[in-house]
Amino acid sequence: METSTKIKNRLIHSHYWGSQQGDGTQSNSPLYRPPKLPYTYSAMHALWESDHLKNHFLNFHMKGFEGFLDCINNTKAEKMGMLQLFANQDEFDEQLIENACIVYNHQLYWDNLSPYGGEISSQLEQAINYCFGSVYKMKQLFIEMGKAYKFSGWLWLIIDENQELQIIPSRQNKNTLLKNAPVHGIPILAIDLWEHAYFQKFNDSKEDYLKTVWMMINWNEVSSRYRFAF
Ligand SMILES: [Fe+2]
Repeated sequence: METSTKIKNRLIHSHYWGSQQGDGTQSNSPLYRPPKLPYTYSAMHALWESDHLKNHFLNFHMKGFEGFLDCINNTKAEKMGMLQLFANQDEFDEQLIENACIVYNHQLYWDNLSPYGGEISSQLEQAINYCFGSVYKMKQLFIEMGKAYKFSGWLWLIIDENQELQIIPSRQNKNTLLKNAPVHGIPILAIDLWEHAYFQKFNDSKEDYLKTVWMMINWNEVSSRYRFAF
C-alpha cells in the first residue's frame, strides 16, 4: 500500500518533527544535529534509572543517528528534512530508512515524555473524545494494546488518512509513515515497546511500564504535534 497523497503532502509541508531537531528551513545550520534528551538522565527515575536511560539513549538512539549520518552522507537526503525524507522514501535504500526510523521514533518518544507530565489541549481532547469516547477510554485501550503486543516494536497514537486518531502497534522499528505500513498516519505519540525500554525496571510487566508511561506523557508536546499535523 502506498503512503496516501494526503499524508505525503502533509509531511512535505510540515516543519515539525522533534523539539531538538532542525526542520530543513535553517540553511545556515546543519540539518541533522546529534539528538538530545529533553531532560537529564536522572530526571525520569519512575521509568528508568540513570544508567538505563543513558544506555538506551547512547546505544540505540545515538548509534542509530550515527548510522543514519553514514547513510545520508553525500546523498540528496542530506539536504532533506526528516519528514520530507519519509515523504520521498522510494528514493532511498532500506538501510537509510531503517536508521531514519530509529532516529525519528526515538526522538518522538523522548519528547513525548516529561518528569512533569502535561496538559491535553482542548482541541486534542475533543478529537480523543470523538474517536475513543473519553481520555480514560483511550488510556485503557492504549495500555491493553501495548500489553497485548508480543513483539519488539512501538505503540503509536496517529492521525490517520481520515484525520481521525488511532492507536496501533508496529513491528521492530517500523512506523506509520512507511509506504508498506498496514495503517498510514502521522504519529503524534510514540512509545518504545522493545524490551530494552522497560525490562530493567519493570521486568516483563509491560502493563506497569505503560501505566507509568501514561503518567509521564508530555501532553503539551503531543497536543503541539496534533496542531502542527493540520
Ligand atoms: Fe529504543
